[in-house]
Amino acid sequence: MKTSNKVEFGDFQTPLALAHEVCELIRRLGEDPNVVVEPTAGRGAFLVAAADKFPSATLRGWEINCDYVTDATVALDTANVSSRSSMTCQDFFTCDWEAVLAAQDGRVLILGNPPWVTNSGVAAIDGTNLPVKENFMGLRGIAARTGKSNFDISEWMLIRLLRGLRGRPATLAMLCKTATARKFLRYAWQNDGRIAAATLYRIDAAEHFDASVDACLLYLRTGSAGPQEADIYPSLSAREPVSRIGLAGEELVADIRAYRALRHLEGLSPFRWRSGVKHDCAAIMELVRTPDGGVENADGQGLDLEADYLFPMLKCSDLANGRTIAKRLVIVTQRFVGDDTAAIARHAPRTWTYLQTHRDRFQARKSSIYKGRVPFALFGIGEYAFAPWKVAVSGLHRSGRFQVVGPMNGQPVFFDDASYYLPFEREEDAQLVADILNSPLCQRFLASLVFTDSKRPFTVELLQRLNLAVIANDAGFGLRWQQLQRSNFAISANLPQIEFVMEEPGRST
Ligand SMILES: C[S@@+](CC[C@H](N)C(=O)[O-])C[C@H]1O[C@@H](n2cnc3c(N)ncnc32)[C@H](O)[C@@H]1O
Repeated sequence: MKTSNKVEFGDFQTPLALAHEVCELIRRLGEDPNVVVEPTAGRGAFLVAAADKFPSATLRGWEINCDYVTDATVALDTANVSSRSSMTCQDFFTCDWEAVLAAQDGRVLILGNPPWVTNSGVAAIDGTNLPVKENFMGLRGIAARTGKSNFDISEWMLIRLLRGLRGRPATLAMLCKTATARKFLRYAWQNDGRIAAATLYRIDAAEHFDASVDACLLYLRTGSAGPQEADIYPSLSAREPVSRIGLAGEELVADIRAYRALRHLEGLSPFRWRSGVKHDCAAIMELVRTPDGGVENADGQGLDLEADYLFPMLKCSDLANGRTIAKRLVIVTQRFVGDDTAAIARHAPRTWTYLQTHRDRFQARKSSIYKGRVPFALFGIGEYAFAPWKVAVSGLHRSGRFQVVGPMNGQPVFFDDASYYLPFEREEDAQLVADILNSPLCQRFLASLVFTDSKRPFTVELLQRLNLAVIANDAGFGLRWQQLQRSNFAISANLPQIEFVMEEPGRST
Protein backbone atom coordinates (compact mmCIF):
# COMPACT_ATOMS: atom_id res chain seq x y z
CA MET A 1 0.00 0.00 0.00
CA LYS A 2 1.26 3.49 -0.85
CA THR A 3 2.33 5.49 2.22
CA SER A 4 -0.19 8.23 1.44
CA ASN A 5 -2.99 5.64 1.31
CA LYS A 6 -1.84 4.20 4.61
CA VAL A 7 -1.96 7.70 6.11
CA GLU A 8 -5.28 8.67 4.57
CA PHE A 9 -6.99 5.50 5.75
CA GLY A 10 -5.24 5.42 9.13
CA ASP A 11 -4.26 1.93 8.22
CA PHE A 12 -2.62 0.23 11.19
CA GLN A 13 -3.86 -3.37 11.11
CA THR A 14 -4.17 -4.88 14.55
CA PRO A 15 -1.82 -7.83 15.19
CA LEU A 16 -3.88 -10.97 15.74
CA ALA A 17 -2.29 -11.56 19.17
CA LEU A 18 -3.47 -8.15 20.37
CA ALA A 19 -6.98 -8.74 19.00
CA HIS A 20 -7.06 -12.03 20.94
CA GLU A 21 -5.88 -10.30 24.11
CA VAL A 22 -8.62 -7.66 23.78
CA CYS A 23 -11.33 -10.26 23.14
CA GLU A 24 -10.09 -12.34 26.07
CA LEU A 25 -10.37 -9.32 28.34
CA ILE A 26 -13.87 -8.53 27.10
CA ARG A 27 -14.93 -12.10 27.74
CA ARG A 28 -13.41 -11.98 31.23
CA LEU A 29 -15.49 -8.84 31.85
CA GLY A 30 -18.60 -10.90 31.25
CA GLU A 31 -19.48 -9.99 27.66
CA ASP A 32 -21.33 -12.62 25.68
CA PRO A 33 -22.55 -10.88 22.52
CA ASN A 34 -25.03 -12.22 20.00
CA VAL A 35 -23.54 -10.03 17.27
CA VAL A 36 -20.07 -8.58 16.83
CA VAL A 37 -19.98 -5.49 14.62
CA GLU A 38 -16.58 -4.44 13.21
CA PRO A 39 -17.18 -1.14 11.35
CA THR A 40 -13.67 -0.78 9.81
CA ALA A 41 -12.61 -4.41 9.88
CA GLY A 42 -9.46 -4.27 7.73
CA ARG A 43 -8.02 -7.76 7.25
CA GLY A 44 -10.33 -9.07 9.96
CA ALA A 45 -8.05 -9.59 12.98
CA PHE A 46 -10.77 -8.65 15.46
CA LEU A 47 -13.44 -10.77 13.76
CA VAL A 48 -11.15 -13.80 13.72
CA ALA A 49 -10.29 -13.30 17.42
CA ALA A 50 -13.96 -12.73 18.31
CA ALA A 51 -14.89 -15.93 16.43
CA ASP A 52 -12.63 -17.82 18.79
CA LYS A 53 -13.69 -16.12 22.04
CA PHE A 54 -17.43 -15.84 21.31
CA PRO A 55 -18.28 -19.15 19.60
CA SER A 56 -21.99 -18.49 19.23
CA ALA A 57 -21.81 -14.86 18.04
CA THR A 58 -22.59 -13.70 14.52
CA LEU A 59 -19.66 -11.71 13.10
CA ARG A 60 -20.27 -8.76 10.80
CA GLY A 61 -17.52 -6.66 9.24
CA TRP A 62 -17.46 -3.53 7.06
CA GLU A 63 -14.37 -2.06 5.40
CA ILE A 64 -13.65 0.51 2.68
CA ASN A 65 -10.72 -1.36 1.15
CA CYS A 66 -12.19 -4.17 -0.98
CA ASP A 67 -8.86 -6.06 -1.07
CA TYR A 68 -8.98 -6.18 2.73
CA VAL A 69 -12.58 -7.40 2.54
CA THR A 70 -11.30 -10.34 0.46
CA ASP A 71 -8.44 -10.95 2.91
CA ALA A 72 -10.83 -10.87 5.88
CA THR A 73 -13.28 -13.20 4.15
CA VAL A 74 -10.47 -15.71 3.52
CA ALA A 75 -9.31 -15.38 7.15
CA LEU A 76 -12.85 -16.08 8.41
CA ASP A 77 -13.15 -19.05 6.03
CA THR A 78 -9.85 -20.38 7.32
CA ALA A 79 -11.16 -20.03 10.87
CA ASN A 80 -14.15 -22.11 9.81
CA VAL A 81 -16.67 -19.43 10.68
CA SER A 82 -17.93 -18.41 7.23
CA SER A 83 -21.44 -19.64 8.09
CA ARG A 84 -21.78 -17.09 10.90
CA SER A 85 -19.76 -14.22 9.42
CA SER A 86 -20.03 -11.63 6.65
CA MET A 87 -17.84 -8.88 5.24
CA THR A 88 -19.11 -5.88 3.26
CA CYS A 89 -17.09 -3.39 1.22
CA GLN A 90 -18.44 -0.10 2.54
CA ASP A 91 -17.35 3.46 3.27
CA PHE A 92 -18.04 4.15 6.95
CA PHE A 93 -19.07 7.71 6.17
CA THR A 94 -21.86 6.77 3.78
CA CYS A 95 -23.20 3.90 5.85
CA ASP A 96 -26.58 4.24 7.59
CA TRP A 97 -25.41 3.08 11.01
CA GLU A 98 -28.82 3.54 12.62
CA ALA A 99 -30.28 1.06 10.12
CA VAL A 100 -27.33 -1.35 10.34
CA LEU A 101 -27.37 -1.45 14.13
CA ALA A 102 -31.16 -1.64 14.35
CA ALA A 103 -31.01 -4.72 12.10
CA GLN A 104 -28.77 -6.60 14.56
CA ASP A 105 -30.78 -8.72 16.99
CA GLY A 106 -29.73 -9.34 20.56
CA ARG A 107 -26.72 -8.05 22.43
CA VAL A 108 -24.37 -6.09 20.19
CA LEU A 109 -20.62 -5.73 20.68
CA ILE A 110 -19.07 -3.03 18.51
CA LEU A 111 -15.44 -4.04 18.27
CA GLY A 112 -12.37 -2.89 16.39
CA ASN A 113 -9.78 -0.28 15.73
CA PRO A 114 -10.93 2.70 13.66
CA PRO A 115 -8.43 4.65 11.50
CA TRP A 116 -5.60 6.53 13.20
CA VAL A 117 -5.63 9.82 11.34
CA THR A 118 -6.87 13.34 11.88
CA ASN A 119 -8.95 15.36 9.43
CA SER A 120 -6.04 17.76 8.93
CA GLY A 121 -3.76 14.76 8.30
CA VAL A 122 -6.11 13.65 5.53
CA ALA A 123 -6.38 17.20 4.15
CA ALA A 124 -2.58 17.62 4.18
CA ILE A 125 -2.21 14.84 1.60
CA ASP A 126 -5.25 16.04 -0.37
CA GLY A 127 -7.17 12.97 0.76
CA THR A 128 -10.93 12.63 0.73
CA ASN A 129 -11.47 10.05 3.47
CA LEU A 130 -13.47 12.45 5.61
CA PRO A 131 -16.98 12.87 6.93
CA VAL A 132 -18.99 15.28 4.80
CA LYS A 133 -19.41 17.91 7.45
CA GLU A 134 -16.00 18.46 8.93
CA ASN A 135 -16.96 21.05 11.47
CA PHE A 136 -19.22 18.55 13.10
CA MET A 137 -19.07 19.66 16.67
CA GLY A 138 -20.12 23.20 15.94
CA LEU A 139 -16.71 24.79 16.40
CA ARG A 140 -16.62 28.06 14.62
CA GLY A 141 -14.68 31.24 14.08
CA ILE A 142 -11.25 31.69 15.48
CA ALA A 143 -11.24 28.38 17.32
CA ALA A 144 -11.86 26.60 14.04
CA ARG A 145 -9.29 28.64 12.19
CA THR A 146 -6.57 28.09 14.75
CA GLY A 147 -6.94 24.34 14.73
CA LYS A 148 -9.54 23.56 17.34
CA SER A 149 -11.72 21.99 14.72
CA ASN A 150 -9.00 19.44 14.13
CA PHE A 151 -10.21 16.03 15.20
CA ASP A 152 -9.40 12.38 14.90
CA ILE A 153 -11.43 10.53 12.31
CA SER A 154 -11.94 7.81 14.89
CA GLU A 155 -13.48 10.32 17.30
CA TRP A 156 -16.03 11.17 14.64
CA MET A 157 -16.65 7.47 13.98
CA LEU A 158 -17.10 6.67 17.67
CA ILE A 159 -19.65 9.44 18.04
CA ARG A 160 -21.39 8.30 14.86
CA LEU A 161 -21.65 4.73 16.20
CA LEU A 162 -22.88 5.92 19.60
CA ARG A 163 -25.60 7.94 17.90
CA GLY A 164 -26.39 4.94 15.70
CA LEU A 165 -27.14 2.91 18.82
CA ARG A 166 -29.93 5.35 19.74
CA GLY A 167 -29.52 4.72 23.46
CA ARG A 168 -29.76 0.95 23.10
CA PRO A 169 -27.88 -1.26 25.58
CA ALA A 170 -24.71 -2.45 23.86
CA THR A 171 -20.97 -2.72 24.40
CA LEU A 172 -18.27 -0.87 22.53
CA ALA A 173 -14.65 -1.96 22.71
CA MET A 174 -12.28 -0.11 20.42
CA LEU A 175 -8.61 0.68 20.23
CA CYS A 176 -7.87 4.36 19.77
CA LYS A 177 -5.58 7.14 20.89
CA THR A 178 -6.07 7.84 24.59
CA ALA A 179 -6.73 11.50 23.76
CA THR A 180 -9.44 10.41 21.31
CA ALA A 181 -11.08 8.20 23.94
CA ARG A 182 -11.13 11.12 26.36
CA LYS A 183 -12.59 13.54 23.83
CA PHE A 184 -15.21 11.02 22.87
CA LEU A 185 -16.19 10.42 26.51
CA ARG A 186 -16.37 14.13 27.18
CA TYR A 187 -18.65 14.55 24.21
CA ALA A 188 -20.80 11.55 25.20
CA TRP A 189 -21.08 12.61 28.82
CA GLN A 190 -21.99 16.15 27.85
CA ASN A 191 -24.53 15.07 25.25
CA ASP A 192 -26.46 12.38 27.07
CA GLY A 193 -24.71 9.58 25.24
CA ARG A 194 -26.22 7.08 27.71
CA ILE A 195 -22.85 5.74 28.81
CA ALA A 196 -23.61 3.32 31.63
CA ALA A 197 -19.93 2.63 32.42
CA ALA A 198 -16.62 3.35 30.74
CA THR A 199 -13.07 2.11 31.26
CA LEU A 200 -9.77 2.75 29.48
CA TYR A 201 -7.05 0.10 29.27
CA ARG A 202 -3.75 1.46 28.10
CA ILE A 203 -1.89 -0.41 25.35
CA ASP A 204 1.67 -0.05 24.12
CA ALA A 205 1.20 1.51 20.67
CA ALA A 206 4.94 1.48 20.00
CA GLU A 207 5.08 -2.27 20.53
CA HIS A 208 1.90 -3.19 18.65
CA PHE A 209 1.70 -0.52 15.93
CA ASP A 210 5.16 1.05 15.85
CA ALA A 211 3.41 4.33 16.62
CA SER A 212 4.61 6.83 19.24
CA VAL A 213 1.27 7.80 20.65
CA ASP A 214 -0.64 7.04 23.84
CA ALA A 215 -3.31 4.52 22.95
CA CYS A 216 -5.86 2.45 24.79
CA LEU A 217 -8.78 0.11 24.58
CA LEU A 218 -11.92 2.16 25.15
CA TYR A 219 -14.44 -0.19 26.72
CA LEU A 220 -17.93 0.99 27.52
CA ARG A 221 -21.50 -0.07 27.97
CA THR A 222 -24.38 2.01 26.70
CA GLY A 223 -28.10 2.09 27.42
CA SER A 224 -28.36 4.25 30.53
CA ALA A 225 -26.56 7.26 31.96
CA GLY A 226 -23.99 6.17 34.55
CA PRO A 227 -21.30 8.12 36.43
CA GLN A 228 -19.35 10.55 34.29
CA GLU A 229 -16.10 8.89 35.30
CA ALA A 230 -13.83 6.23 33.84
CA ASP A 231 -11.16 4.10 35.49
CA ILE A 232 -7.78 3.97 33.76
CA TYR A 233 -5.96 0.63 33.79
CA PRO A 234 -2.25 0.64 32.91
CA SER A 235 -2.54 -2.41 30.63
CA LEU A 236 -5.01 -4.97 29.28
CA SER A 237 -3.94 -7.46 31.93
CA ALA A 238 -3.92 -5.06 34.92
CA ARG A 239 -6.43 -5.86 37.64
CA GLU A 240 -6.28 -2.48 39.43
CA PRO A 241 -6.86 0.97 37.94
CA VAL A 242 -4.17 3.62 38.36
CA SER A 243 -6.48 6.61 38.23
CA ARG A 244 -9.98 7.73 37.46
CA ILE A 245 -10.76 10.52 35.02
CA GLY A 246 -14.05 12.35 35.11
CA LEU A 247 -16.12 15.24 33.90
CA ALA A 248 -15.92 18.27 36.17
CA GLY A 249 -18.25 20.93 34.82
CA GLU A 250 -17.38 21.37 31.18
CA GLU A 251 -13.93 19.83 31.35
CA LEU A 252 -12.40 16.44 31.90
CA VAL A 253 -9.98 16.12 34.78
CA ALA A 254 -7.19 13.57 35.10
CA ASP A 255 -7.85 12.54 38.70
CA ILE A 256 -11.46 13.11 39.66
CA ARG A 257 -11.01 12.12 43.32
CA ALA A 258 -8.08 14.49 43.90
CA TYR A 259 -9.94 17.15 41.96
CA ARG A 260 -12.99 16.84 44.22
CA ALA A 261 -10.81 17.27 47.29
CA LEU A 262 -9.19 20.41 45.86
CA ARG A 263 -11.84 21.95 43.68
CA HIS A 264 -12.21 24.95 45.98
CA LEU A 265 -8.90 26.06 44.41
CA GLU A 266 -10.64 26.43 41.08
CA GLY A 267 -12.13 29.70 39.98
CA LEU A 268 -11.29 32.65 37.88
CA SER A 269 -7.66 33.64 37.78
CA PRO A 270 -7.26 37.26 38.87
CA PHE A 271 -4.73 37.68 36.05
CA ARG A 272 -4.95 36.93 32.39
CA TRP A 273 -2.57 34.27 31.16
CA ARG A 274 -0.94 35.02 27.81
CA SER A 275 0.57 32.91 25.07
CA GLY A 276 4.02 33.66 23.74
CA VAL A 277 4.56 35.44 20.45
CA LYS A 278 3.17 33.69 17.37
CA HIS A 279 4.82 34.32 14.00
CA ASP A 280 4.87 30.92 12.24
CA CYS A 281 8.13 31.87 10.60
CA ALA A 282 10.84 30.66 12.98
CA ALA A 283 13.48 30.25 10.28
CA ILE A 284 13.43 34.00 9.61
CA MET A 285 12.21 35.49 12.88
CA GLU A 286 14.22 33.52 15.44
CA LEU A 287 17.94 34.25 15.51
CA VAL A 288 20.94 33.05 17.46
CA ARG A 289 24.06 34.92 18.48
CA THR A 290 27.29 33.91 16.81
CA PRO A 291 30.60 33.71 18.76
CA ASP A 292 31.77 36.96 17.11
CA GLY A 293 28.78 38.84 18.60
CA GLY A 294 26.73 38.86 15.40
CA VAL A 295 23.43 37.12 14.77
CA GLU A 296 22.31 34.53 12.27
CA ASN A 297 19.03 32.92 11.31
CA ALA A 298 18.17 29.22 11.14
CA ASP A 299 19.45 29.08 7.54
CA GLY A 300 22.87 30.11 8.89
CA GLN A 301 22.59 33.50 7.18
CA GLY A 302 24.71 36.08 9.06
CA LEU A 303 22.74 39.27 9.70
CA ASP A 304 23.43 42.86 10.58
CA LEU A 305 20.13 44.13 11.99
CA GLU A 306 19.28 47.20 14.06
CA ALA A 307 18.75 46.41 17.75
CA ASP A 308 15.35 48.18 17.88
CA TYR A 309 13.26 45.17 16.89
CA LEU A 310 15.39 42.43 18.41
CA PHE A 311 14.38 40.92 21.76
CA PRO A 312 15.70 38.00 23.80
CA MET A 313 13.57 34.89 23.51
CA LEU A 314 13.10 31.63 25.41
CA LYS A 315 11.55 28.49 23.93
CA CYS A 316 9.18 26.30 25.90
CA SER A 317 11.92 23.67 26.14
CA ASP A 318 14.13 26.28 27.85
CA LEU A 319 11.41 26.89 30.43
CA ALA A 320 10.83 23.19 31.00
CA ASN A 321 14.55 22.69 31.59
CA GLY A 322 14.93 25.61 33.95
CA ARG A 323 16.86 27.81 31.51
CA THR A 324 15.98 31.46 32.01
CA ILE A 325 18.94 33.04 30.23
CA ALA A 326 17.83 33.58 26.65
CA LYS A 327 20.25 32.40 23.97
CA ARG A 328 17.90 33.29 21.14
CA LEU A 329 16.53 36.51 19.76
CA VAL A 330 13.23 37.16 18.07
CA ILE A 331 12.33 39.96 15.71
CA VAL A 332 9.27 41.69 17.16
CA THR A 333 7.72 43.63 14.31
CA GLN A 334 4.75 45.07 16.22
CA ARG A 335 3.97 46.34 19.71
CA PHE A 336 0.34 45.35 19.52
CA VAL A 337 -1.87 43.32 17.21
CA GLY A 338 -2.64 45.32 14.08
CA ASP A 339 0.28 47.77 14.52
CA ASP A 340 1.48 49.09 11.14
CA THR A 341 4.78 47.40 10.29
CA ALA A 342 5.66 49.93 7.57
CA ALA A 343 7.30 52.05 10.28
CA ILE A 344 10.15 49.50 10.38
CA ALA A 345 11.32 50.79 6.99
CA ARG A 346 12.00 54.22 8.52
CA HIS A 347 13.31 53.18 11.93
CA ALA A 348 15.30 50.10 10.98
CA PRO A 349 15.95 49.94 7.21
CA ARG A 350 18.27 46.90 7.40
CA THR A 351 15.64 44.93 9.35
CA TRP A 352 13.02 46.00 6.82
CA THR A 353 15.18 44.87 3.91
CA TYR A 354 15.80 41.53 5.61
CA LEU A 355 12.06 41.00 6.16
CA GLN A 356 11.24 42.08 2.61
CA THR A 357 13.82 39.65 1.25
CA HIS A 358 11.92 36.83 2.93
CA ARG A 359 8.44 38.17 2.26
CA ASP A 360 7.47 34.97 0.44
CA ARG A 361 8.12 32.96 3.62
CA PHE A 362 5.64 35.14 5.50
CA GLN A 363 3.10 34.99 2.70
CA ALA A 364 3.34 31.19 2.77
CA ARG A 365 2.22 31.06 6.40
CA LYS A 366 -0.62 28.58 6.41
CA SER A 367 -2.69 29.86 9.33
CA SER A 368 -5.62 31.94 8.12
CA ILE A 369 -5.24 34.32 11.07
CA TYR A 370 -2.62 36.20 9.00
CA LYS A 371 -5.01 36.76 6.08
CA GLY A 372 -5.76 40.45 5.54
CA ARG A 373 -3.13 41.50 8.09
CA VAL A 374 -0.22 43.88 7.54
CA PRO A 375 2.99 42.26 6.28
CA PHE A 376 5.05 40.44 8.95
CA ALA A 377 2.12 40.48 11.39
CA LEU A 378 2.42 38.74 14.76
CA PHE A 379 0.03 37.54 17.42
CA GLY A 380 0.51 37.18 21.15
CA ILE A 381 1.80 40.73 21.51
CA GLY A 382 0.54 43.76 23.37
CA GLU A 383 1.67 45.91 26.27
CA TYR A 384 1.85 42.80 28.44
CA ALA A 385 4.46 41.20 26.19
CA PHE A 386 6.84 44.09 26.94
CA ALA A 387 6.45 43.81 30.72
CA PRO A 388 9.87 43.37 32.36
CA TRP A 389 9.05 40.42 34.63
CA LYS A 390 7.19 37.28 33.75
CA VAL A 391 6.16 33.98 35.27
CA ALA A 392 6.21 31.45 32.47
CA VAL A 393 5.54 27.78 31.86
CA SER A 394 5.88 25.47 28.89
CA GLY A 395 2.59 24.30 27.45
CA LEU A 396 4.15 21.23 25.88
CA HIS A 397 5.98 19.67 28.82
CA ARG A 398 4.44 17.73 31.62
CA SER A 399 6.65 19.18 34.37
CA GLY A 400 4.50 22.26 35.01
CA ARG A 401 7.52 24.15 36.33
CA PHE A 402 6.84 27.90 36.56
CA GLN A 403 9.89 30.10 35.96
CA VAL A 404 10.50 33.69 36.90
CA VAL A 405 12.03 35.43 33.89
CA GLY A 406 13.49 38.91 34.19
CA PRO A 407 14.80 41.38 31.64
CA MET A 408 18.07 40.76 29.81
CA ASN A 409 20.25 43.77 29.12
CA GLY A 410 17.26 45.92 29.99
CA GLN A 411 15.00 44.21 27.48
CA PRO A 412 11.90 42.12 28.22
CA VAL A 413 12.20 38.44 27.32
CA PHE A 414 9.73 36.97 24.84
CA PHE A 415 8.51 33.36 24.62
CA ASP A 416 7.49 31.07 21.81
CA ASP A 417 3.81 30.37 21.25
CA ALA A 418 3.98 27.05 23.08
CA SER A 419 4.69 28.93 26.32
CA TYR A 420 2.28 30.73 28.62
CA TYR A 421 3.00 33.50 31.08
CA LEU A 422 1.78 36.24 33.41
CA PRO A 423 3.37 39.69 33.06
CA PHE A 424 4.59 41.78 36.02
CA GLU A 425 6.25 45.13 36.61
CA ARG A 426 8.10 44.05 39.75
CA GLU A 427 10.37 41.09 40.38
CA GLU A 428 9.01 40.44 43.90
CA ASP A 429 5.47 40.09 42.57
CA ALA A 430 6.58 37.67 39.86
CA GLN A 431 8.53 35.67 42.44
CA LEU A 432 5.56 35.45 44.79
CA VAL A 433 3.22 34.24 42.06
CA ALA A 434 5.80 31.69 40.90
CA ASP A 435 6.14 30.47 44.51
CA ILE A 436 2.37 30.06 44.75
CA LEU A 437 2.19 28.22 41.42
CA ASN A 438 5.10 25.94 42.33
CA SER A 439 3.74 25.24 45.84
CA PRO A 440 3.01 21.55 46.53
CA LEU A 441 -0.69 22.40 46.94
CA CYS A 442 -0.98 24.09 43.55
CA GLN A 443 1.08 21.39 41.90
CA ARG A 444 -1.23 18.73 43.38
CA PHE A 445 -4.24 20.57 42.08
CA LEU A 446 -2.65 20.93 38.64
CA ALA A 447 -1.82 17.22 38.64
CA SER A 448 -5.51 16.45 39.22
CA LEU A 449 -6.46 18.57 36.21
CA VAL A 450 -3.71 17.87 33.69
CA PHE A 451 -3.44 14.96 31.29
CA THR A 452 0.30 14.63 31.12
CA ASP A 453 0.13 12.41 28.04
CA SER A 454 -1.64 15.05 25.98
CA LYS A 455 0.39 16.97 23.42
CA ARG A 456 -0.20 20.25 25.22
CA PRO A 457 -0.79 19.48 28.90
CA PHE A 458 -0.89 23.16 29.88
CA THR A 459 -3.14 25.63 28.10
CA VAL A 460 -4.32 29.15 28.79
CA GLU A 461 -7.79 27.78 29.55
CA LEU A 462 -6.37 25.45 32.19
CA LEU A 463 -4.15 28.08 33.81
CA GLN A 464 -7.01 30.53 33.82
CA ARG A 465 -8.89 28.12 36.12
CA LEU A 466 -6.40 28.57 38.99
CA ASN A 467 -7.86 30.73 41.71
CA LEU A 468 -4.54 32.17 42.84
CA ALA A 469 -6.07 34.08 45.75
CA VAL A 470 -7.42 30.90 47.38
CA ILE A 471 -4.32 28.88 46.51
CA ALA A 472 -2.10 31.61 47.97
CA ASN A 473 -4.08 31.54 51.18
CA ASP A 474 -4.21 27.75 51.53
CA ALA A 475 -0.55 27.34 50.56
CA GLY A 476 0.61 29.74 53.26
CA PHE A 477 1.23 32.84 51.17
CA GLY A 478 -1.85 34.75 52.40
CA LEU A 479 -0.05 37.71 53.93
CA ARG A 480 2.29 38.27 51.00
CA TRP A 481 -0.63 37.91 48.65
CA GLN A 482 -2.53 40.65 50.43
CA GLN A 483 0.50 42.94 50.23
CA LEU A 484 0.78 42.19 46.56
CA GLN A 485 -2.90 42.93 46.05
CA ARG A 486 -2.47 46.30 47.69
CA SER A 487 0.36 47.22 45.37
CA ASN A 488 -0.40 48.12 41.85
CA PHE A 489 1.79 45.45 40.40
CA ALA A 490 0.45 43.76 37.35
CA ILE A 491 0.00 44.80 33.81
CA SER A 492 -3.75 45.29 33.51
CA ALA A 493 -5.65 42.06 33.24
CA ASN A 494 -8.04 43.62 30.77
CA LEU A 495 -5.95 45.08 28.02
CA PRO A 496 -7.98 45.33 24.84
CA GLN A 497 -5.92 42.75 22.99
CA ILE A 498 -7.28 39.92 20.95
CA GLU A 499 -6.19 36.79 22.74
CA PHE A 500 -5.41 33.89 20.50
CA VAL A 501 -5.36 30.75 22.50
CA MET A 502 -3.97 28.25 20.10
CA GLU A 503 -3.87 24.58 19.65
CA GLU A 504 -1.52 23.80 16.85
CA PRO A 505 -3.20 22.32 13.80
CA GLY A 506 -2.69 18.60 13.95
CA ARG A 507 -2.29 18.60 17.69
CA SER A 508 -4.94 17.32 19.96
CA THR A 509 -5.20 17.36 23.69
C1 LIG B 1 -6.44 1.06 12.15
S1 LIG B 1 -6.94 0.08 10.80
C2 LIG B 1 -7.66 -1.24 11.67
C3 LIG B 1 -8.22 -2.32 10.86
C4 LIG B 1 -8.93 -3.38 11.66
N1 LIG B 1 -10.03 -2.80 12.38
C5 LIG B 1 -7.97 -4.02 12.63
O1 LIG B 1 -8.17 -3.80 13.83
O2 LIG B 1 -7.03 -4.67 12.22
C6 LIG B 1 -8.25 1.06 10.17
C7 LIG B 1 -9.02 0.46 9.06
O3 LIG B 1 -10.04 1.38 8.71
C8 LIG B 1 -10.25 1.30 7.33
N2 LIG B 1 -10.92 2.54 6.92
C9 LIG B 1 -10.38 3.77 6.80
N3 LIG B 1 -11.30 4.64 6.39
C10 LIG B 1 -12.46 3.96 6.26
C11 LIG B 1 -13.75 4.32 5.86
N4 LIG B 1 -14.05 5.58 5.50
N5 LIG B 1 -14.71 3.39 5.85
C12 LIG B 1 -14.42 2.11 6.22
N6 LIG B 1 -13.21 1.70 6.58
C13 LIG B 1 -12.22 2.61 6.62
C14 LIG B 1 -8.84 1.15 6.78
O4 LIG B 1 -8.83 0.65 5.46
C15 LIG B 1 -8.23 0.19 7.80
O5 LIG B 1 -8.40 -1.12 7.41
